Amino acid sequence: MRRKTLFNQSWQFAAQILPLDAPDELFLEITLPHTNQTFTQNNINHLDYEFISTYRKRFDYNLNDPEKLVFLDFDGVLIACKIYLNGEFLTEHLGGFTPFSVDITSALQPGENLLTIYVDSRERKDIPPFGHLVDYLTFGGIYRDVYLRTVHPTFIQDLFVQTHRIFDNPEVTCNITLSKIDTTLSLIANLIDPKGTIIASTQTNLNDDSPTVEFSSLPEINLWDLEQPDLYTIEVSLFKEGQLIDNQTARFGFRACEFKQDGGFYLNGQRIKLFGLNRHQTYPYIGAAAPARLQKRDAEILKYELGCNVVRTSHYPQSPHFLNRCDEIGLLVFEEIPGWQYIGDTDWQNISLNELEAMIMRDRNHPSIVLWGVRINESHDNDDFYTKTNALAHQVDPTRQTGGVRYFMGSSFLEDVYTYNDFSNSVQEPQVQPHLITEFAGHMFPTKIFDHEQRLIDHALLHAKIHNLQMGNPKIAGAIGWCAFDYATHIEFGSGDRICYHGVMDTFRNPKWAAYFYQSQQDPSQQIILQAATHWTMGDRSGGGNDPLTVFSNCDQVEVIIGDISLGRFDPDRENYPHLNRPPFTIPIAMHYTAWGQSEFHDLHLVGLIQDQPVTEQWISSNKLPNTLELVLDSDRLVADGSDMTRLTCRVTDQYGNPLPYAFSIVHLEIEGPAEIIGENPLILVGGAAGVYIKAQYQAGEVTIRARVNRLPEASIELKIGSQESAP
Ligand code: GAL
Repeated sequence: MRRKTLFNQSWQFAAQILPLDAPDELFLEITLPHTNQTFTQNNINHLDYEFISTYRKRFDYNLNDPEKLVFLDFDGVLIACKIYLNGEFLTEHLGGFTPFSVDITSALQPGENLLTIYVDSRERKDIPPFGHLVDYLTFGGIYRDVYLRTVHPTFIQDLFVQTHRIFDNPEVTCNITLSKIDTTLSLIANLIDPKGTIIASTQTNLNDDSPTVEFSSLPEINLWDLEQPDLYTIEVSLFKEGQLIDNQTARFGFRACEFKQDGGFYLNGQRIKLFGLNRHQTYPYIGAAAPARLQKRDAEILKYELGCNVVRTSHYPQSPHFLNRCDEIGLLVFEEIPGWQYIGDTDWQNISLNELEAMIMRDRNHPSIVLWGVRINESHDNDDFYTKTNALAHQVDPTRQTGGVRYFMGSSFLEDVYTYNDFSNSVQEPQVQPHLITEFAGHMFPTKIFDHEQRLIDHALLHAKIHNLQMGNPKIAGAIGWCAFDYATHIEFGSGDRICYHGVMDTFRNPKWAAYFYQSQQDPSQQIILQAATHWTMGDRSGGGNDPLTVFSNCDQVEVIIGDISLGRFDPDRENYPHLNRPPFTIPIAMHYTAWGQSEFHDLHLVGLIQDQPVTEQWISSNKLPNTLELVLDSDRLVADGSDMTRLTCRVTDQYGNPLPYAFSIVHLEIEGPAEIIGENPLILVGGAAGVYIKAQYQAGEVTIRARVNRLPEASIELKIGSQESAP
């Protein structure tokens, strides 16, 4: 039977090339996912991670069954690596964003084995996305999970699930790829519903090398959709002469999605406007090496804190943990191959084709994925190459449409959807359909979380404007803004500190006001949102005052109260944003504050009303005095596996809990218990907030984190580290 175990613990690392027999003293003990370098919040120099490092792992292997094959499965290594076992060279892998497996059977020894991997994290011109300038940092290291997999020589290599006629008498087929075939083989396949009940079963004797099992006459099934993303599983057990030799599962959903010639995107037959953001897999301090919990959290932030229904994995295949979470919570995905504006020579293109195939082979069962990006982002036309990428995508996955992101109209349209970056600060009329806007805003409007409030408001309203226009244009399937989170980049881009401040959230995933625009587009049944886009000062805007007051909310009306005077109830700004379901509120308040310095300043109090009933409120203090040092943990439990992490946000707030944007305080952190702080300590708050990560060690126990800033009471927060067996 197959055994697959996580192989992340007890690695050795040296930030240089060491000989295969180098002594242990030259290495650090580390756990995967690993970044070959840790970083500060900004001013990150790519040369700091551009080197070749040595990763090693000793492990015992009992070769008691010589009939078995043993593989190492790598989820991703940036950007190339050479793998040795017990001194023997096994393979080289080029490309940092897709998985690969290495058969280590022949090099294994009974007892202790020594695995050595030289990881090349330089920006090698022969590997995508490199060759020219790139507007993002890739980082380096064995930055995703590794597994050890032991299988019978006849094993299940792949399961590809397809659903048919989902609205009426649904059927499921599953193509099974086996490593070998003979007539003594048989299999049982079960179809399992979201509750874990087997709802259909089939048994087959095998006589060809890629059998297909079919399930029909199914009991009633639930569709996978955005509100209720029900997931089903196919479990395949393989038998040889009646003996169970392998078992594999594939998770999938019953859903239909299509970009149609009428310009619309249809999910399960219903037209929905795509509304989303691009995501880079970049994190402060740890580069791209974020463990499962942080990956999943990003999907949750996009769905719930940003109200998106789609994300583009710009500009490369992203973590399986991220995509699994998208399946589970109902967040659509446009996934694309690595690259940025540059196409290399034939060898480079062959690596790209390999990555395209690996991406689709890895991800074609995800119901969340609705489109494959088969062009290098924003590259020029290259019909030979893109005819190949497009054909390969359709061959490996006949069920999904393709796109390929460009930034000019009228390029060769070889794919199924014209995916277009529209940086006109408006919405250009499509020339062909289907047409999806894949980027806007971004470098046209870089905005820091600590910028002047007018800049933050205009940034938020630019996102509102573009979505209003795309929602009102039936020839457009949707728009995906640039971008969700600020990200680290090269000096040729960004704000001089090697950060592109293009996110609607900062690198820590703290919201700018644009984030509240996105969040406020949700239906109030999901969550009620009310957020004033103001620091509420009398002298921060040019000319002073707060007029007009912009509010993002999904309430029907907002009442504005200043001090104890109500200015009345206001409606959303339907005139300027007629196509948004939840237009921002543009509230004139000049009648209250006539001129700068002429009236006493009072707290702002907003009340959100639905059907005339107050349902939520927000207060913003007028005194602007730091009141509380607030600590927020995303998770209060971690697993003692040496790599699990959660975000700790530190904020200085007013007495109502609003961050004070110019509180550039220094926070001193202390930690007690079996965990460590990953990040800067002392930590400077930027825009009133910043974060670190809390990383579990190998022991279970209680952890307390204490934080101090000048002139405020100390804050503390606790979390539990559970043993690996009792993992939550
Ligand atoms: C686009 C590009 C993105 C990012 C963005 C900034 O041209 O595709 O990767 O650089 O500009 O606005």
